[in-house]
Amino acid sequence: MTRSIKTQVAIIGGGPAGLMLAQRLQLAGHDAIVIERQTRAHVLSRIRAGVLEQGTVDMLTDAGLATRMTDEGFVHGGTGLSFLGRKLRIDLAALSGKPVTIYGQTEVTKDLYDALDTAGVRIVHEVEDVVLHDVTSDRPFVTYTAGGGQYHLDCEYIAGCDGYHGVSRPSIPASVRREFERVYPFGWLGILSETPPVDHELIYAHSERGFALCSMRHAQLSRYYVQCPLTDHVDDWSDDRFWDELAARLPDDAKSRLVTGPSIEKSIAPLRSFVAEPMSYGRLFLAGDAAHIVPPTGAKGLNLAMSDVYYLSNAFDDALSGRATTGLESYSTTALRRVWKSVRFSWWLTNLMHRFPDDGDFGRRVQEAELDYLANSQAAQTSFAENYVGLPF
Ligand code: APR
Ligand code: PHB
Repeated sequence: MTRSIKTQVAIIGGGPAGLMLAQRLQLAGHDAIVIERQTRAHVLSRIRAGVLEQGTVDMLTDAGLATRMTDEGFVHGGTGLSFLGRKLRIDLAALSGKPVTIYGQTEVTKDLYDALDTAGVRIVHEVEDVVLHDVTSDRPFVTYTAGGGQYHLDCEYIAGCDGYHGVSRPSIPASVRREFERVYPFGWLGILSETPPVDHELIYAHSERGFALCSMRHAQLSRYYVQCPLTDHVDDWSDDRFWDELAARLPDDAKSRLVTGPSIEKSIAPLRSFVAEPMSYGRLFLAGDAAHIVPPTGAKGLNLAMSDVYYLSNAFDDALSGRATTGLESYSTTALRRVWKSVRFSWWLTNLMHRFPDDGDFGRRVQEAELDYLANSQAAQTSFAENYVGLPF
Protein backbone atom coordinates (compact mmCIF):
# COMPACT_ATOMS: atom_id res chain seq x y z
CA MET A 1 0.00 0.00 0.00
CA THR A 2 1.28 3.46 -0.87
CA ARG A 3 1.01 6.14 1.78
CA SER A 4 0.32 9.68 0.57
CA ILE A 5 1.92 12.66 2.25
CA LYS A 6 2.05 16.32 1.40
CA THR A 7 4.42 19.25 1.82
CA GLN A 8 5.18 22.57 0.19
CA VAL A 9 8.81 21.81 -0.71
CA ALA A 10 10.15 18.26 -1.13
CA ILE A 11 13.87 18.42 -0.45
CA ILE A 12 15.87 15.53 -1.92
CA GLY A 13 19.13 15.06 0.03
CA GLY A 14 20.08 15.86 3.61
CA GLY A 15 23.60 17.24 3.12
CA PRO A 16 24.41 20.85 4.02
CA ALA A 17 22.42 22.25 1.06
CA GLY A 18 19.19 20.34 1.80
CA LEU A 19 19.40 20.92 5.55
CA MET A 20 20.08 24.64 5.28
CA LEU A 21 17.23 25.02 2.81
CA ALA A 22 14.91 23.19 5.22
CA GLN A 23 16.01 25.44 8.09
CA ARG A 24 15.50 28.68 6.15
CA LEU A 25 12.07 27.55 4.93
CA GLN A 26 11.12 26.52 8.44
CA LEU A 27 12.15 29.91 9.81
CA ALA A 28 10.08 31.63 7.11
CA GLY A 29 7.04 29.57 8.17
CA HIS A 30 6.92 27.13 5.25
CA ASP A 31 6.58 23.37 5.31
CA ALA A 32 9.25 21.06 3.89
CA ILE A 33 10.34 17.43 4.14
CA VAL A 34 13.90 16.23 3.67
CA ILE A 35 14.40 12.73 2.27
CA GLU A 36 17.94 11.36 2.57
CA ARG A 37 19.38 8.15 1.16
CA GLN A 38 21.89 7.48 3.94
CA THR A 39 21.63 7.15 7.72
CA ARG A 40 22.25 10.25 9.80
CA ALA A 41 25.38 8.61 11.26
CA HIS A 42 26.73 8.14 7.75
CA VAL A 43 26.06 11.76 6.75
CA LEU A 44 27.81 12.91 9.93
CA SER A 45 30.83 10.70 9.34
CA ARG A 46 31.78 12.41 6.08
CA ILE A 47 34.82 14.64 6.42
CA ARG A 48 34.83 17.62 4.12
CA ALA A 49 36.52 21.03 3.98
CA GLY A 50 36.39 23.45 6.85
CA VAL A 51 36.71 27.04 5.62
CA LEU A 52 33.57 29.17 5.87
CA GLU A 53 33.21 32.40 3.94
CA GLN A 54 31.74 35.33 5.87
CA GLY A 55 28.53 35.00 3.81
CA THR A 56 28.17 31.40 5.03
CA VAL A 57 28.87 32.48 8.62
CA ASP A 58 26.20 35.18 8.28
CA MET A 59 23.67 32.65 6.96
CA LEU A 60 24.41 30.22 9.79
CA THR A 61 24.05 33.08 12.27
CA ASP A 62 20.73 34.20 10.74
CA ALA A 63 19.55 30.60 10.95
CA GLY A 64 20.23 30.55 14.71
CA LEU A 65 23.36 28.42 14.43
CA ALA A 66 26.08 30.75 15.70
CA THR A 67 26.69 29.38 19.19
CA ARG A 68 29.02 26.44 18.63
CA MET A 69 30.59 27.99 15.54
CA THR A 70 31.51 31.07 17.59
CA ASP A 71 32.79 29.03 20.54
CA GLU A 72 34.71 26.41 18.63
CA GLY A 73 35.56 27.94 15.24
CA PHE A 74 38.72 29.92 14.52
CA VAL A 75 38.57 33.28 12.77
CA HIS A 76 41.51 33.67 10.37
CA GLY A 77 42.43 37.12 9.11
CA GLY A 78 44.96 35.72 6.65
CA THR A 79 46.08 32.66 4.77
CA GLY A 80 49.57 31.43 3.94
CA LEU A 81 51.03 30.43 0.59
CA SER A 82 54.49 28.99 0.08
CA PHE A 83 56.34 28.39 -3.15
CA LEU A 84 59.88 28.07 -4.44
CA GLY A 85 61.32 28.54 -0.97
CA ARG A 86 59.29 31.72 -0.38
CA LYS A 87 56.46 32.45 1.98
CA LEU A 88 53.60 34.83 1.50
CA ARG A 89 50.78 35.74 3.85
CA ILE A 90 47.68 37.10 2.15
CA ASP A 91 46.15 39.52 4.61
CA LEU A 92 42.53 38.68 3.85
CA ALA A 93 41.07 41.04 6.44
CA ALA A 94 43.15 44.06 5.38
CA LEU A 95 42.71 43.48 1.65
CA SER A 96 39.05 42.44 1.54
CA GLY A 97 37.65 43.63 4.86
CA LYS A 98 36.61 40.09 5.79
CA PRO A 99 38.13 37.05 7.50
CA VAL A 100 37.29 33.38 7.01
CA THR A 101 36.14 31.01 9.77
CA ILE A 102 37.59 27.55 10.27
CA TYR A 103 34.76 25.23 11.31
CA GLY A 104 34.33 21.77 9.82
CA GLN A 105 31.47 20.97 7.47
CA THR A 106 30.69 17.96 9.66
CA GLU A 107 30.01 20.36 12.56
CA VAL A 108 27.84 22.60 10.35
CA THR A 109 25.79 19.55 9.36
CA LYS A 110 25.42 18.46 12.99
CA ASP A 111 24.27 21.95 14.05
CA LEU A 112 21.71 21.95 11.23
CA TYR A 113 20.32 18.54 12.24
CA ASP A 114 20.02 19.70 15.86
CA ALA A 115 18.15 22.87 14.86
CA LEU A 116 15.78 20.98 12.55
CA ASP A 117 15.07 18.39 15.23
CA THR A 118 14.24 21.14 17.70
CA ALA A 119 11.91 22.77 15.18
CA GLY A 120 10.27 19.42 14.41
CA VAL A 121 11.07 19.42 10.69
CA ARG A 122 10.53 15.99 9.10
CA ILE A 123 13.75 14.33 7.91
CA VAL A 124 13.40 10.81 6.53
CA HIS A 125 16.60 8.77 6.35
CA GLU A 126 17.46 5.64 4.37
CA VAL A 127 15.01 6.35 1.55
CA GLU A 128 15.33 4.26 -1.61
CA ASP A 129 13.95 4.28 -5.16
CA VAL A 130 13.47 8.05 -5.20
CA VAL A 131 11.72 9.15 -8.42
CA LEU A 132 10.68 12.69 -9.39
CA HIS A 133 7.39 12.98 -11.32
CA ASP A 134 5.62 15.65 -13.38
CA VAL A 135 8.20 18.33 -12.60
CA THR A 136 6.97 20.51 -15.47
CA SER A 137 3.37 20.45 -14.21
CA ASP A 138 2.08 22.55 -11.33
CA ARG A 139 1.52 19.36 -9.27
CA PRO A 140 4.87 17.61 -9.08
CA PHE A 141 5.36 14.65 -6.77
CA VAL A 142 8.07 12.35 -5.51
CA THR A 143 7.81 8.62 -4.85
CA TYR A 144 10.17 6.64 -2.65
CA THR A 145 10.38 3.71 -0.29
CA ALA A 146 11.42 3.92 3.36
CA GLY A 147 11.32 1.36 6.17
CA GLY A 148 9.71 -1.14 3.81
CA GLY A 149 6.79 1.21 2.97
CA GLN A 150 6.03 3.05 -0.27
CA TYR A 151 5.38 6.78 -0.25
CA HIS A 152 3.81 9.31 -2.60
CA LEU A 153 4.85 12.85 -1.67
CA ASP A 154 2.80 15.66 -3.20
CA CYS A 155 4.42 19.07 -3.21
CA GLU A 156 4.47 22.48 -4.82
CA TYR A 157 8.19 22.48 -5.54
CA ILE A 158 11.09 20.01 -5.53
CA ALA A 159 14.59 21.00 -4.38
CA GLY A 160 17.29 18.71 -5.76
CA CYS A 161 19.98 18.85 -3.05
CA ASP A 162 21.14 15.28 -3.53
CA GLY A 163 24.77 15.85 -4.50
CA TYR A 164 26.70 14.82 -7.56
CA HIS A 165 25.41 11.21 -7.59
CA GLY A 166 21.77 12.04 -6.89
CA VAL A 167 18.66 11.51 -9.02
CA SER A 168 17.60 15.14 -9.39
CA ARG A 169 20.03 16.35 -12.03
CA PRO A 170 19.38 13.36 -14.32
CA SER A 171 15.65 14.14 -14.00
CA ILE A 172 16.28 17.16 -16.24
CA PRO A 173 16.11 15.77 -19.81
CA ALA A 174 19.48 15.46 -21.53
CA SER A 175 18.12 17.59 -24.38
CA VAL A 176 17.72 20.53 -21.97
CA ARG A 177 20.82 19.97 -19.84
CA ARG A 178 24.29 21.15 -20.69
CA GLU A 179 27.28 19.93 -18.69
CA PHE A 180 30.74 21.44 -18.41
CA GLU A 181 33.62 19.50 -16.93
CA ARG A 182 37.34 19.56 -16.23
CA VAL A 183 39.00 16.56 -14.65
CA TYR A 184 42.44 17.14 -13.10
CA PRO A 185 45.24 14.59 -13.54
CA PHE A 186 45.85 14.06 -9.79
CA GLY A 187 44.08 13.58 -6.47
CA TRP A 188 44.45 14.78 -2.89
CA LEU A 189 45.53 12.34 -0.22
CA GLY A 190 44.18 13.72 3.06
CA ILE A 191 44.72 12.74 6.66
CA LEU A 192 43.33 13.79 10.02
CA SER A 193 45.65 13.54 12.99
CA GLU A 194 45.26 14.43 16.65
CA THR A 195 48.25 16.73 16.62
CA PRO A 196 48.51 20.52 16.97
CA PRO A 197 48.31 22.33 13.59
CA VAL A 198 51.69 23.34 12.19
CA ASP A 199 50.64 27.00 11.93
CA HIS A 200 47.90 29.22 13.32
CA GLU A 201 46.68 29.84 9.74
CA LEU A 202 46.43 27.59 6.67
CA ILE A 203 49.41 26.99 4.39
CA TYR A 204 48.86 26.28 0.69
CA ALA A 205 52.24 24.96 -0.50
CA HIS A 206 53.44 24.74 -4.10
CA SER A 207 56.61 22.68 -4.42
CA GLU A 208 58.67 20.82 -6.99
CA ARG A 209 57.23 17.62 -5.54
CA GLY A 210 53.63 18.79 -5.87
CA PHE A 211 51.03 20.63 -3.82
CA ALA A 212 50.43 20.30 -0.07
CA LEU A 213 47.92 21.92 2.28
CA CYS A 214 48.09 22.36 6.04
CA SER A 215 44.67 22.91 7.58
CA MET A 216 43.03 22.21 10.91
CA ARG A 217 39.82 21.48 12.75
CA HIS A 218 40.83 22.60 16.24
CA ALA A 219 43.85 23.07 18.52
CA GLN A 220 44.50 19.32 18.71
CA LEU A 221 43.21 18.17 15.34
CA SER A 222 45.07 18.80 12.10
CA ARG A 223 43.99 18.19 8.53
CA TYR A 224 46.77 17.79 5.95
CA TYR A 225 46.77 16.97 2.26
CA VAL A 226 49.33 16.13 -0.41
CA GLN A 227 48.77 16.00 -4.17
CA CYS A 228 49.19 12.40 -5.38
CA PRO A 229 48.80 10.44 -8.64
CA LEU A 230 45.28 9.16 -9.29
CA THR A 231 46.65 5.65 -9.56
CA ASP A 232 47.80 5.71 -5.90
CA HIS A 233 45.86 3.81 -3.26
CA VAL A 234 45.68 4.72 0.46
CA ASP A 235 47.46 1.46 1.25
CA ASP A 236 50.48 2.81 -0.66
CA TRP A 237 50.74 5.56 1.93
CA SER A 238 51.91 4.58 5.40
CA ASP A 239 51.69 7.39 7.95
CA ASP A 240 55.49 7.73 7.86
CA ARG A 241 55.48 8.10 4.11
CA PHE A 242 52.75 10.74 4.33
CA TRP A 243 54.57 12.82 6.95
CA ASP A 244 57.88 12.63 5.04
CA GLU A 245 56.20 13.75 1.83
CA LEU A 246 54.29 16.55 3.53
CA ALA A 247 57.45 17.81 5.26
CA ALA A 248 59.36 17.74 1.96
CA ARG A 249 56.79 20.09 0.39
CA LEU A 250 56.72 22.67 3.22
CA PRO A 251 58.95 25.69 3.85
CA ASP A 252 61.79 25.01 6.34
CA ASP A 253 60.27 26.78 9.34
CA ALA A 254 56.97 24.89 9.00
CA LYS A 255 58.87 21.64 8.48
CA SER A 256 60.73 22.14 11.76
CA ARG A 257 57.48 22.80 13.67
CA LEU A 258 55.51 19.91 12.17
CA VAL A 259 54.22 17.55 14.88
CA THR A 260 53.49 14.09 13.50
CA GLY A 261 51.35 11.29 14.95
CA PRO A 262 49.09 8.45 13.88
CA SER A 263 46.45 9.32 11.29
CA ILE A 264 42.86 8.77 12.40
CA GLU A 265 41.51 9.06 8.86
CA LYS A 266 43.15 8.75 5.46
CA SER A 267 41.55 8.97 2.03
CA ILE A 268 42.22 9.95 -1.57
CA ALA A 269 39.83 12.24 -3.46
CA PRO A 270 39.94 13.01 -7.19
CA LEU A 271 39.67 16.65 -8.30
CA ARG A 272 37.12 17.91 -10.79
CA SER A 273 35.27 21.03 -11.87
CA PHE A 274 31.73 20.43 -13.09
CA VAL A 275 28.70 22.63 -13.80
CA ALA A 276 25.25 21.62 -15.06
CA GLU A 277 23.05 24.24 -16.69
CA PRO A 278 20.29 25.19 -16.18
CA MET A 279 19.86 24.77 -12.42
CA SER A 280 16.08 24.58 -12.73
CA TYR A 281 13.52 22.77 -14.85
CA GLY A 282 9.81 23.32 -14.34
CA ARG A 283 9.26 23.04 -10.59
CA LEU A 284 12.59 21.31 -9.93
CA PHE A 285 15.45 23.45 -8.59
CA LEU A 286 19.01 22.14 -8.07
CA ALA A 287 21.29 23.42 -5.31
CA GLY A 288 24.83 22.52 -4.19
CA ASP A 289 26.78 19.53 -5.48
CA ALA A 290 23.72 18.32 -7.43
CA ALA A 291 24.47 21.14 -9.87
CA HIS A 292 28.21 21.75 -9.56
CA ILE A 293 31.47 20.37 -8.21
CA VAL A 294 34.62 22.36 -7.53
CA PRO A 295 38.09 21.04 -6.69
CA PRO A 296 38.81 21.52 -2.97
CA THR A 297 41.52 24.13 -3.60
CA GLY A 298 40.02 27.23 -1.97
CA ALA A 299 37.29 25.27 -0.12
CA LYS A 300 34.40 26.62 -2.17
CA GLY A 301 32.09 23.56 -2.21
CA LEU A 302 30.10 24.16 0.95
CA ASN A 303 30.13 27.92 0.50
CA LEU A 304 28.71 27.63 -2.99
CA ALA A 305 25.98 25.31 -1.73
CA MET A 306 25.09 28.01 0.81
CA SER A 307 24.81 30.83 -1.73
CA ASP A 308 22.56 28.64 -3.93
CA VAL A 309 20.37 28.02 -0.90
CA TYR A 310 20.30 31.72 -0.09
CA TYR A 311 18.87 32.57 -3.53
CA LEU A 312 16.58 29.53 -3.64
CA SER A 313 15.10 29.88 -0.15
CA ASN A 314 14.33 33.57 -0.74
CA ALA A 315 12.71 32.70 -4.07
CA PHE A 316 10.62 29.91 -2.49
CA ASP A 317 9.60 32.28 0.29
CA ASP A 318 8.41 34.87 -2.24
CA ALA A 319 6.50 32.27 -4.25
CA LEU A 320 4.96 30.42 -1.30
CA SER A 321 3.92 33.70 0.34
CA GLY A 322 2.18 34.71 -2.88
CA ARG A 323 4.42 37.75 -3.39
CA ALA A 324 6.23 36.86 -6.62
CA THR A 325 7.58 33.99 -8.70
CA THR A 326 10.24 36.10 -10.38
CA GLY A 327 12.93 34.83 -7.97
CA LEU A 328 12.24 31.25 -9.02
CA GLU A 329 12.20 32.21 -12.69
CA SER A 330 15.62 33.87 -12.43
CA TYR A 331 17.09 31.43 -9.87
CA SER A 332 19.21 29.46 -12.34
CA THR A 333 20.67 32.56 -13.99
CA THR A 334 21.33 34.30 -10.67
CA ALA A 335 22.92 31.26 -9.01
CA LEU A 336 25.02 30.35 -12.06
CA ARG A 337 26.61 33.80 -12.20
CA ARG A 338 28.12 33.24 -8.76
CA VAL A 339 28.77 29.53 -9.36
CA TRP A 340 30.94 30.25 -12.39
CA LYS A 341 33.02 32.82 -10.47
CA SER A 342 33.77 30.27 -7.75
CA VAL A 343 34.43 27.62 -10.39
CA ARG A 344 36.88 30.02 -12.02
CA PHE A 345 38.68 30.82 -8.77
CA SER A 346 39.05 27.20 -7.63
CA TRP A 347 40.22 26.19 -11.13
CA TRP A 348 42.73 29.07 -11.14
CA LEU A 349 44.08 28.25 -7.67
CA THR A 350 44.32 24.56 -8.61
CA ASN A 351 46.32 25.48 -11.72
CA LEU A 352 48.55 27.87 -9.79
CA MET A 353 49.44 25.57 -6.91
CA HIS A 354 49.71 22.04 -8.34
CA ARG A 355 52.34 20.26 -10.35
CA PHE A 356 50.74 19.18 -13.64
CA PRO A 357 52.42 16.07 -15.11
CA ASP A 358 52.16 17.36 -18.71
CA ASP A 359 52.98 21.01 -18.13
CA GLY A 360 56.51 20.97 -19.48
CA ASP A 361 59.11 23.67 -18.87
CA PHE A 362 57.08 26.47 -20.45
CA GLY A 363 54.06 25.80 -18.28
CA ARG A 364 56.21 25.67 -15.19
CA ARG A 365 57.87 29.00 -15.90
CA VAL A 366 54.48 30.64 -16.44
CA GLN A 367 53.31 29.20 -13.13
CA GLU A 368 56.42 30.58 -11.39
CA ALA A 369 55.88 33.97 -12.98
CA GLU A 370 52.29 34.05 -11.77
CA LEU A 371 53.35 33.16 -8.21
CA ASP A 372 56.03 35.85 -8.33
CA TYR A 373 53.44 38.35 -9.57
CA LEU A 374 51.07 37.42 -6.74
CA ALA A 375 53.88 37.83 -4.20
CA ASN A 376 54.70 41.34 -5.44
CA SER A 377 51.40 42.85 -6.48
CA GLN A 378 48.90 44.22 -4.03
CA ALA A 379 46.31 44.25 -6.82
CA ALA A 380 46.81 40.49 -7.36
CA GLN A 381 46.64 39.80 -3.63
CA THR A 382 43.47 41.87 -3.31
CA SER A 383 41.88 39.86 -6.10
CA PHE A 384 42.94 36.63 -4.35
CA ALA A 385 41.55 37.85 -1.02
CA GLU A 386 38.25 39.04 -2.49
CA ASN A 387 37.64 35.62 -4.06
CA TYR A 388 38.96 33.57 -1.16
CA VAL A 389 36.73 35.24 1.45
CA GLY A 390 33.81 34.89 -0.96
CA LEU A 391 32.17 37.16 -3.50
CA PRO A 392 29.00 38.86 -2.25
CA PHE A 393 25.54 37.37 -2.60
N1 APR B 1 17.78 10.38 -2.57
C1 APR B 1 17.96 11.02 -1.39
N2 APR B 1 19.15 11.51 -1.00
C2 APR B 1 20.19 11.34 -1.82
C3 APR B 1 20.07 10.69 -3.06
C4 APR B 1 18.80 10.18 -3.43
N3 APR B 1 18.60 9.56 -4.59
N4 APR B 1 21.28 10.69 -3.66
C5 APR B 1 22.13 11.31 -2.82
N5 APR B 1 21.49 11.70 -1.70
C6 APR B 1 22.03 12.41 -0.54
C7 APR B 1 23.43 12.01 -0.16
O1 APR B 1 23.45 10.85 0.65
C8 APR B 1 23.92 13.23 0.60
O2 APR B 1 23.70 13.14 1.98
O3 APR B 1 22.13 13.79 -0.84
C9 APR B 1 23.09 14.38 0.03
C10 APR B 1 23.92 15.37 -0.73
O4 APR B 1 24.81 15.98 0.14
P1 APR B 1 26.28 16.50 -0.28
O5 APR B 1 26.90 15.53 -1.22
O6 APR B 1 27.00 16.82 0.97
O7 APR B 1 25.98 17.82 -1.15
P2 APR B 1 25.48 19.27 -0.74
O8 APR B 1 24.49 19.22 0.36
O9 APR B 1 25.17 19.94 -2.02
O10 APR B 1 26.75 19.95 -0.10
C11 APR B 1 27.73 20.59 -0.85
O11 APR B 1 29.06 19.78 0.86
O12 APR B 1 29.14 17.53 0.58
C12 APR B 1 29.87 18.68 0.45
O13 APR B 1 31.55 18.44 -1.22
C13 APR B 1 30.30 18.96 -0.91
O14 APR B 1 31.32 20.76 0.00
C14 APR B 1 30.26 20.39 -0.81
C15 APR B 1 28.99 20.69 -0.11
C1 PHB C 1 40.21 21.51 4.91
O1 PHB C 1 40.38 22.01 6.03
O2 PHB C 1 39.83 20.34 4.77
C2 PHB C 1 40.44 22.35 3.71
C3 PHB C 1 40.83 23.67 3.88
C4 PHB C 1 41.05 24.46 2.77
C5 PHB C 1 40.89 23.94 1.51
C6 PHB C 1 40.47 22.63 1.34
C7 PHB C 1 40.24 21.83 2.43
O3 PHB C 1 41.14 24.72 0.43
